[in-house]
Amino acid sequence: TKKAVVGPLVGAVDQGTSSTRFLVFNSKTAELLSHHQVEITQQFPKEGWVEQDPMEILQSVHECIEKTCEKLRQLNVDISNIKAIGVSNQRETTVVWDKLTGEPLYNAVVWLDLRTQSTVEDLRKCIPVRNNFVKAKTGLPISTYFSAVKLRWLLANVQKVQKAVEEKRALFGTIDSWLLWSLTGGVEGGVHCTDVTNASRTMLFNIHSLKWDKELCEFFGIPVEILPNIRSSSEIYGLMKTGALEGVPLSGCLGDQSAALVGQMCFQDGQAKNTYGTGCFLLCNTGHKCVFSEHGLLTTVAYKLGRDKPVCYALEGSVAIAGEVVRWLRDNLGIIKRSEEIEKLAKEAGTSYDCYFVPAFSGLYAPYWDSSARGIICGLTQFTNKSHIAFAALEAVCFQTREILDAMNRDCGIPLSHLQVDGGMTGNRLLMQLQADILCIPVVKPSMPETTALGAAMAAGAAEGVGVWSLEPKDLSAVLMERFEPQIKAEESEIRYSTWKKAVMRSMGWVT
Ligand code: G3P
Repeated sequence: TKKAVVGPLVGAVDQGTSSTRFLVFNSKTAELLSHHQVEITQQFPKEGWVEQDPMEILQSVHECIEKTCEKLRQLNVDISNIKAIGVSNQRETTVVWDKLTGEPLYNAVVWLDLRTQSTVEDLRKCIPVRNNFVKAKTGLPISTYFSAVKLRWLLANVQKVQKAVEEKRALFGTIDSWLLWSLTGGVEGGVHCTDVTNASRTMLFNIHSLKWDKELCEFFGIPVEILPNIRSSSEIYGLMKTGALEGVPLSGCLGDQSAALVGQMCFQDGQAKNTYGTGCFLLCNTGHKCVFSEHGLLTTVAYKLGRDKPVCYALEGSVAIAGEVVRWLRDNLGIIKRSEEIEKLAKEAGTSYDCYFVPAFSGLYAPYWDSSARGIICGLTQFTNKSHIAFAALEAVCFQTREILDAMNRDCGIPLSHLQVDGGMTGNRLLMQLQADILCIPVVKPSMPETTALGAAMAAGAAEGVGVWSLEPKDLSAVLMERFEPQIKAEESEIRYSTWKKAVMRSMGWVT
C-alpha cells in the first residue's frame, strides 16, 4: 500500500459546458491527488438553441465528488483531510428554479444559445450611441452571450417561471448559484449567492460599485428580488449538506475563466492566459483598473479573493467555439469517433490546402460580436477530404486566438511576448504547434493542465476561516512548463491569416 498523504487537502468542482469534474489537491504542494469526470449532455431543441438539464448538472457534481472520494480511499488517503471545496463553472448559463420545491422551472439556457438574437438587435437600437450605459456599467456589449437576455426570455416565454416570480418562489442563478444553493441544502436552507466574477457576466451587475444595478434591471425587465446575493470569490458561503464531504465548507467560487487566471498565477497587471475548453478565452489581468477596450474585448471582474480584498479586473477576448468544433466533427459529421482522434486525422493532411473553416455556430464573439454570423467551410475542391477539414478546424481555433491576441495587444499597447495556455485541448500537440506558428510567439503550457480547478481550490483554501492555502506570489521558475516555438516564417503565417479573415467576412451577416 502507498504511504498515506498527510496535510490539508482542498477539493474543486469544475463544472464546464462539456463536462463536470471534481479534483482534490494537496494545499501545500498543489499536487493533484485524484479526480473524476462526467460528460454533460447538450440539447439542441431548435436551430441555435442550446440547453442543459440543471438536475443532470447537479447529479454529475454529486457523482464526481463521491467517485473521487472512493478513489482517494483506495489510495489510502483520509478524506477528512479535505478542508474546503471551491466551485468554478461555465459562466452566463441561466437557471431559474423554485425555492420551495427545488425544481428547475426550465432547462438551463446555455451561454452559446442564440434564441435571443432578435431581442438583442432590438435592445441595441434603444442604446444611445454616445451614452452606452450598458457598456459603461457592465464592460459588456449587448449580446446573446450574457445572462440578462436569457433571463428576460424565460420571464416572457415560460409560464411556470412567470407564475413562480409572481408568487415569490422563483430564484435566478448562473451555474455557480444553482450549485451553491443545492449543495448547501437547497429547500432546507440553501444559500442563494454568487461571486463577483459570475455576477459580472450577467449584464445586470455594475462592475464599479460591485452591486446589482437598478437601471440595468429595469432596462432588461428583470425583478431584482430573484437575483442572488453577491459575495467575494473567496469566503465561506456554507457547508456541504450531504454526501462523503458533508460539513466541509464551500469557500471558493469563480467563473471558470477567472479560476484559470488564478490557477495560472496571473496576479500581476499585464499577465495573461488563454484557456481552450468548449470555447476559448484569453484574459489579461489589468489590476485594480477597469480598462475599456477599443477593439471588441470585454471588461470583466477577474477576482476578489476575500471580503476585504480589493477587486481585480481583466480584459477578455471570448471565442465561442473551440473544443466544440471537435465535438461537432465527432457527433454531427461522425468523421472521428473520439475527440482525441482529431490530432491524428489532421496530421494526415499536414496542411489545410487552403480549406478554411469558420465555426461561427453561435454567431461570432470577440472581436466582431455578430450574432448573425454562421459557420462556413470554404475553399473546397475535389481533392478536399476529412483530414483537411479536421486540420482547418484546428487552425480555426488558432486563428480565432490570433484575432483576440491582436486586439489585446492593441488595447494594452505592450504586445505579449509569449502565450500562457491551459485547458483540455492543450493536450493536442499539433494544435499547440499551429498556435505558436500562427501567433509568431512561443506558446507555454504548464505540465498540470487543470488550472481552472486549481484556481478554485486556491480560492477555497485561502478563505478566511479555512486558511490552508497561501496566495503569496511564488517563484514559478520551478514549475514544469512545455514551450512550443514558432517554426514557420512570419510572412507565411500572415498570408494564411489574411485568407482566414476573408473567410470570416463571408460568414458574417448570414442570418438577417
Ligand atoms: O463563458 C463561457 C465559459 O465560461 C465556458 O467555459 O470551459 O465550458 O469552455 P468552457
